[in-house]
Amino acid sequence: MITNQILLLLMLSILWPSAAALPFTPGNIGNLFGMPESDGRILQRSKRGWMWNQFFLLEEYTGNDHQYVGKLHSNMDRGDGNVKYVLTGDGAGTLFLIDEKSGDIHATKRLDREEKAMYTLHAKVLDRNTNAELEPDTEFNIKIHDINDNAPKFAKDIYFASVPEMSEVGTSVVTVTATDADDQTYGNSAKLVYSILQGQPYFSVDSENGTIKTALSGMDREVKENYQVVIQAKDMAGQMGGLSGTTTVSITLSDVNDSPPRFANRKGPFSSAEIGGAIGRIKADDPDDGRNAEMEYSIVGGHDTFNIITDQMTQEGIIVIKKALDYESKRDYEFRVEVKNTYLDARFIHGLQFKDYATVKVTVEDVDESPVFTRNPYIIEVHEDTAAGSFVGVVSARDPDADNKLVKYSIDRHTDLERLFNIDSMNGTITTLKALDREMSKWHNISVVATEINNPRQTTRVPVFIKVLDVNDNAPEFAMSYDTFVCESIKAGEVLDSLLALNLGNHSLFLGFGGL
Ligand SMILES: *[C@@H]1O[C@H](CO)[C@@H](O)[C@H](O)[C@H]1NC(C)=O
Ligand SMILES: *[C@@H]1O[C@H](CO)[C@@H](O)[C@H](O)[C@H]1NC(C)=O
Ligand SMILES: *[C@@H]1O[C@H](CO)[C@@H](O)[C@H](O)[C@H]1NC(C)=O
Ligand SMILES: *[C@@H]1O[C@H](CO)[C@@H](O)[C@H](O)[C@H]1NC(C)=O
Repeated sequence: MITNQILLLLMLSILWPSAAALPFTPGNIGNLFGMPESDGRILQRSKRGWMWNQFFLLEEYTGNDHQYVGKLHSNMDRGDGNVKYVLTGDGAGTLFLIDEKSGDIHATKRLDREEKAMYTLHAKVLDRNTNAELEPDTEFNIKIHDINDNAPKFAKDIYFASVPEMSEVGTSVVTVTATDADDQTYGNSAKLVYSILQGQPYFSVDSENGTIKTALSGMDREVKENYQVVIQAKDMAGQMGGLSGTTTVSITLSDVNDSPPRFANRKGPFSSAEIGGAIGRIKADDPDDGRNAEMEYSIVGGHDTFNIITDQMTQEGIIVIKKALDYESKRDYEFRVEVKNTYLDARFIHGLQFKDYATVKVTVEDVDESPVFTRNPYIIEVHEDTAAGSFVGVVSARDPDADNKLVKYSIDRHTDLERLFNIDSMNGTITTLKALDREMSKWHNISVVATEINNPRQTTRVPVFIKVLDVNDNAPEFAMSYDTFVCESIKAGEVLDSLLALNLGNHSLFLGFGGL
């Protein structure tokens, strides 16, 4: 009993340093349990007779016997065994047992503050013989005192964060916060201190609030992009014996435009056929990422014949021809191309040469072009009933190349199945092979092919529409389409009756055309 009281006294001294200065009267044991209120006064309920107000108990008691909590004592109790102490409320009779004669309270189980930090109970003191209440029922608390039985825990096992490369020292990256289930308001069991276990000298952590900051200047994404930082939170204000928890923070440096594009190869030797379009690509390198690596190409001073545009997908410069090239008039071009980033970052332009240049040479090659006709198409009119061998017309083609090769002509026989026409292979003169009959066909649409003599693959074809003109000023009129009645297979006489049956006024004219 004495030991217990001394223990309690020691405990109070630790919790309230001023407790040592409290009035302590060996004769009045109740004072030992009187607790200071916020104003530091001892509660002495001597008027009402109760000598206590609040009890304290350490959580996680590991002893084998029941843990002593404290003693109820009433001034009405004269030690003659006539009073009976009765306990009701949270855990009374189960967790907390009272010795009804002495008023001693014990806890039957070990208690966890993080589960329940305070128990509210009621005490009565009764006359053992009459069961009459000697004191009014009163309420008191048993508060469970914290011990450091919980380690700090971070909300996540791994955090992801990013910070721009080249950030100034002290730039905030992310705040990682740990929590500790121990009592925040009492002692240091939940007082956390953050430290960095891995990630120095690049990063640091604010020991009080877990804010991670950059600690090294000039961190370059193009050199190292990702850092694994390990942060520890330790309770007991970081002292020895405190409990700790850790978390990993994966920090990525995001790109800033700190590198200008550079041509690896400053001369682009290009050659181009003299036809228009894209003739070549040049590429500058930029170690930056995404939009920071986007670039624009241009020709220094502009150019009449060439232009350069940027391929948005590949960031290459495409050299295109603005104006048709002509090998025969100019064969070599040289110009300078410049490249710069589309989105410049003012912080890094300073002192950097942010443009780069390359010289582009273009050599125009001669192309073997196919012959070109003087007209396309040709429309030729010819009178009907001209004899075989008559002149129809002339077509003419020449080789546009510098060496102006000789050209020969032919008729595509698929377009002249009846072999009505002939062409002079050297001078392009078209003549008839048979007499043309307008009533057989008003048009003869043929194709003439011009071929370079030394290079049969260089050919050009041209349509030639030959219109057969009527020699008769008064063409006969029919109610129906003329062509319907005429076909090559009609023999003289066969058709006569049917045509006469039509009772046409000028049928005799028609019969003449039919070849009678
Ligand atoms: C952490 O503390 C530092 C200074 O000690 C302060 O600059 C910073 O804003 C704090 N961060 C947070 C998230 O409270
Ligand atoms: C074309 O050549 C033929 C002989 O091959 C000749 O009869 C004709 O007069 C020439 N025509 C022209 C227009 O030169
Ligand atoms: C021939 O060409 C002319 C002019 O383009 C056209 O009116 C006519 O229908 C064509 N004839 C044939 C049979 O293709
Ligand atoms: C038949 O032809 C003649 C002359 O060619 C003309 O005078 C006459 O009107 C024509 N008859 C009809 C019915 O078309």
